[in-house]
Amino acid sequence: MEFKFSPIPNHFEIKETVTQDNYLVNGKLVSWKGDFSPVYSTISSDEKYKPTLLGKIPSLGKDQAIEALDSACQAFDNGKGLWPTMKVVDRIKAMESFVEEMKGKREEVVNLLMWEIGKNHNDSKKEFDRTVDYIYDTIEAYKQIDRDSAKFQKNSGINAHIRRGPLGVVLCLGPYNYPLNETFCLLIPALMMGNTVIFKPAKHGVLLISPLMEAFQKHFPPGVVNVLFGRGRVLATPIMESGKINVLALIGHSSSANALQESHPKKNRLRLVLGLEAKNPAIIMPDADLDLTIKECINGSLSFNGQRCTALKIIYVHEDVKDVFIERFSNEVDKLKYGNPWDENVNLTPLPEPSKPKYIQELISDAQSKGAKIINKNGGKSCENYVFPAILFPVSKDMDVYKDEQFGPVVPIISFKDIDTPLEDMAESNYGQQVSVFGKNTKTLGPLIDTLVNLVCRVNINSSCQRGPDIYPFTGRKDSAFSTLSVHDALRSFSIRTFVASKDNKENNKIIKDLLGSDNSNFVSTDYIL
Ligand code: G3H
Repeated sequence: MEFKFSPIPNHFEIKETVTQDNYLVNGKLVSWKGDFSPVYSTISSDEKYKPTLLGKIPSLGKDQAIEALDSACQAFDNGKGLWPTMKVVDRIKAMESFVEEMKGKREEVVNLLMWEIGKNHNDSKKEFDRTVDYIYDTIEAYKQIDRDSAKFQKNSGINAHIRRGPLGVVLCLGPYNYPLNETFCLLIPALMMGNTVIFKPAKHGVLLISPLMEAFQKHFPPGVVNVLFGRGRVLATPIMESGKINVLALIGHSSSANALQESHPKKNRLRLVLGLEAKNPAIIMPDADLDLTIKECINGSLSFNGQRCTALKIIYVHEDVKDVFIERFSNEVDKLKYGNPWDENVNLTPLPEPSKPKYIQELISDAQSKGAKIINKNGGKSCENYVFPAILFPVSKDMDVYKDEQFGPVVPIISFKDIDTPLEDMAESNYGQQVSVFGKNTKTLGPLIDTLVNLVCRVNINSSCQRGPDIYPFTGRKDSAFSTLSVHDALRSFSIRTFVASKDNKENNKIIKDLLGSDNSNFVSTDYIL
């Protein structure tokens, strides 16, 4: 096969590079006069391969990190700040006006998503729209939480008014594969619940935040959203070392999460909201519908080139159907179309990390040296920014591709006779997010499901793994996650129950009545938000 690119349509060309020359603290877009880092795309605009310069971002340092921390702490003001004490309806209004302005930036953000991380046009549009929907769904879920708590209850002679309150200052770090969606799935519920936030965009997928900077500045009170640019370690470490962070919200690798958690001097004060690595298996039973299984395994293992935490990263196929599955699956993988993100019907697109093709080749070579073969014709063929998906079989436990979360275009396959093989491997593994099971016989599926639900947090029957719909719980066991993120659960993860209690007597009841009948407290309220 040849890697050929069609010319870049005029509409998607980078006509001007993006200069992100400020950062957001204290409600001000502070102009940056120091060093900058260039942002390149691994997509080439020339016929002879050359990464494309997209723009530049400030290389901020420790001083700016502390400036952002002080700004967020001041905006929270030990719970006295405008944002954490604001009426729920007013926080909702701010969020609604932010999302309205954000919608106007769709085209710019989508174009940068394609260039920065190589996500195809359809999926880039989906990422933007899904994020907008997520914000509206979060607003609705928050209204419901607020309605449910717009009441008093009485027990053992004590009246209680129980609500959810913010936790404080949140450090929010997102991943490159969903630099908008996954980051906002942390940022938005954190803000909605009244926390203040320091946010550092991912290394790849950073310029796409530029079009939203003014909206952050305009629609939230000063210091509520602070945006920093630069290297994670340089910025996040001093922030954590201060001990002033109440929530670490991170989608990424457990090694970063552990290092950051370690830098916090009072770990017991730190809440963790983490989406981490996974190695979701597909288990193909002898009675699986192979047409459907192949379609789902292709989608599951190779959409966005396998760079999804929910991707199927290892396939277990029963001995009885191994040969036919592997042959048909390989043929279908070889038919996938490689190209630039805007090319029509493109499935495989350039990898945004310049070092990724080499890493994938190393996984392939390691597996080959230990007895695996590349099964598909095009598997492993490479160009400067891509390696065509390699299906590797038979894969064994000593291979790196068995142990590592490959997060890229390589599909390891293992065959099994006894269902205990995949079950034992899953029990031993460091991951525990989801699994896909393909089969029909409920006599075997039933007990299998009963075990799998205790090894992972979502068992997908005859379909690939995925996060959505966002209304459902998204979490994992072991090194795969901490806390749960669904629209509703995320609001809970970023808040704590806190309440007002008073003995049931005349004097106290009069105070409560007066509070309810006045505007003196924003917390004590039985208003029903429509
Ligand atoms: O990278 C992990 C994402 O949460 C996966 O989401 O299943 O919608 O692609 P997705």
